[in-house]
Amino acid sequence: MSLSQRKILIGITGGIAAYKVPELVRRLRDHGAEVQIVMTEAAQSFITTLTLQAVSGHPVHTSLLDPAAEAAMGHIELARWADLILVAPASADFMARLAHGHANDLLATLCVAARCPIAVAPAMNQAMWSAPATVANCQTLLQRGVYVWGPASGAQACGDVGAGRMLEPEQLLLAVRQHFQGVLPDQRLRAETFTDYTASLNASPLQLPSPLPQILRDQRVVITAGPTREAIDPVRFISNYSSGKMGFALADAAARSGAIVTLITGPVSLATPNQVTRIDVVSAQEMFDSARTACQDADLFIATAAVADYRPETTAGQKMKKQKGAPITLTLIENPDIVGTIAGDTQNAKRPFIVGFAAETQNVLQYARDKLVRKHLDMIVANDVSQTEIGFNSDDNAVTLVWAEGEKVLPRASKPTIALQIIEEVALRLAQKG
Ligand code: C5P
Repeated sequence: MSLSQRKILIGITGGIAAYKVPELVRRLRDHGAEVQIVMTEAAQSFITTLTLQAVSGHPVHTSLLDPAAEAAMGHIELARWADLILVAPASADFMARLAHGHANDLLATLCVAARCPIAVAPAMNQAMWSAPATVANCQTLLQRGVYVWGPASGAQACGDVGAGRMLEPEQLLLAVRQHFQGVLPDQRLRAETFTDYTASLNASPLQLPSPLPQILRDQRVVITAGPTREAIDPVRFISNYSSGKMGFALADAAARSGAIVTLITGPVSLATPNQVTRIDVVSAQEMFDSARTACQDADLFIATAAVADYRPETTAGQKMKKQKGAPITLTLIENPDIVGTIAGDTQNAKRPFIVGFAAETQNVLQYARDKLVRKHLDMIVANDVSQTEIGFNSDDNAVTLVWAEGEKVLPRASKPTIALQIIEEVALRLAQKG
């Protein structure tokens, strides 16, 4: 879901987690939100106004009594401007002031003046978080309808371990998006919600109760996913490390967006997303045959599969025996290029919009653009698989969408989040195509 037209005021209070705010601002802006920043005096000891001005694209507001700033945009005007105020990190002191209606600095004053929803992302030492005064202040805020997002548990900057860490920018982004979609699970959003969410991705992608806008309603979508296996003999094969998570996340996101989805997958250990028709295949040739048939009346074809480029020329009927001391030679022949062939298929009266993936370790964008042209694709999703913590066989990804006239960077996020963003972009182009 896009955040365009959404105006978000981020309040930063004094806490080491302030260093994560530029990333949050960037992610919100990537989703189209307009972001303005208010910092308390303490916050400025942790991060500079200049950094936040650069990432938000607006002058940062710091003072209630600055005539020049007030002349540019008065504090009441700023309070009216916002669709949402998110205080991140929210210190124990700020939560106390907010609970008691103080108006002794710009941020506290804005919160008293605001009529829009307010969310706080607490960040403090674990003893301060569990102190009776903080607990009572938190309850007061909840009773008043303030959203409390987090905190998470874990190692703290002071060396303690416990509850009090600010939610990660990615989690705050998800909370903001769900808030505007009207599908936020709770006013008191516990960090465990996100832990469960991440853990659930393996079993079944995107478990959160999130009815999505029906941007692909009744569109026929075919997706290839996972690795293929090329048999050497009855017990051995050539394959790769693809987990299938990206393709399954895309199938899920497309189905939730109203599409009729056929997911053609190689061998993976993932649950089939709801409302998705799954076809299990093993070899590249089987995947090719299934995809070609399914694509005959498809509106959109997304090829995420890591198809083996080669297969053994012959498959032994019986298990090959070891030839002691002697090398063996396998002759490999080329597999069909599934997406390339389907994209080049002129027989297709109604050619689907075709999206390919390009996993590269160097010159990522250059190779992706070459592949876009060579395989006759409408869009290609380029990812740099030289970074081991993202992409292949991992829960996160960071990609660049490339099409003939442009590019769009989707920074690191969980695969379901990336999948949703890809679906949003593709839906936009399908709609333009008519
Ligand atoms: O050529 P390369 O394997 O890098 O291209 C990647 C893209 O092509 C992916 O979208 C992948 O699913 C698709 N592909 C295919 N059939 C092949 C090889 C790749 O559909 N035999």
